[in-house]
Amino acid sequence: MKSTQSNIKKAKEYLDKNDCVAVPTETVYGLAGNAYSDTAVKKIFKLKNRPHNNPLIVHFYNIDKLKDDCLLNENFFELYNKFCPGPISFILKLKKNSKISKFVTNQQNIVAVRFPKHNLFRKLLKKISYPLAAPSANMSTRLSPVTAKDVIEEFGSKIKYVLNGGRCDIGLESTIINLTSKPKILRLGGLETKKIEKVLKKKISIITKSKKKISPGQLRLHYSPGIPLRINVKEPKKYEAFLLIKKRKIKFNNYFYLSKEGNLEQAAKNLYSLMRKIKKKGYKTIAVEKIPNIGIGKTLNDRLERASKY
Ligand code: TXA
Ligand code: MG
Repeated sequence: MKSTQSNIKKAKEYLDKNDCVAVPTETVYGLAGNAYSDTAVKKIFKLKNRPHNNPLIVHFYNIDKLKDDCLLNENFFELYNKFCPGPISFILKLKKNSKISKFVTNQQNIVAVRFPKHNLFRKLLKKISYPLAAPSANMSTRLSPVTAKDVIEEFGSKIKYVLNGGRCDIGLESTIINLTSKPKILRLGGLETKKIEKVLKKKISIITKSKKKISPGQLRLHYSPGIPLRINVKEPKKYEAFLLIKKRKIKFNNYFYLSKEGNLEQAAKNLYSLMRKIKKKGYKTIAVEKIPNIGIGKTLNDRLERASKY
């Protein structure tokens, strides 16, 4: 499934018929459907076995298309101009006459929107007349896929089409920021908080562990490889797969490098694939050494911590 015009056309044909198609983004693969169609959106929930009260992110080509559906504000314009297309999702108020299916938002009057950067996905969005609701293309609570092959492993023949755009650049999901009132980060992601703070010229609160569960991505068990995982490990147990942030000599067996050079971006890009690989090799548990809590390392630690709640 190469990235040709004819593949984009094929994906469009399925979407026009309210079927779901997996699409590549710069963060992770998404399972996309027409956000204006109740039928398509219901299919997404069903395929993922996703609880109906967990709303979806809607993907747009650009701001022009967004204006029909959402109320925009100053904070949004500033972040959009600086970072979009890119790994950030915005929670905005819906316009009264928005056509977005009420199943996307679980009947709320707010919606998460994003402008993905992957070239192939952008070409597809440009070609269609509706935005695409797209959660990560994995079964609910499991690891997000970062290659077309991962998607097929998750869903097999249950989905009709995967647009293959190679390996995702970032490898972790988008940062989610609520802009409906004072800006708040609901999910750490591919875009660092510091960069957002620099543009908005203020400190932004991060409420990824809220008890209210505004963003169910905040659920404790999430992003799970499906086997137990321990974090901040110095000494792995004999049978554990041990993830290291940097290549070096160690006295343990069964080790894997998240990055040979200790590069955090590289580690982010590798994390989900490596966890999938380890599970496939038959390991029953994973141990991860301490990851520096700086830059994208904060997102890595967030995901590892959630995965460790398995
Ligand atoms: O990088 C990404 O964001 C990927 C790619 C495919 O775009 N998508 C993704 O979608 O991660 P998903 O559905 O796996 O995660 C979206 C998160 C969920 O935790 C959901 O609860 C939260 O966004 N969310 C969506 N709409 C929301 C809303 N109105 N208020 C609060 N949280 C919301
Ligand atoms: Mg997800």
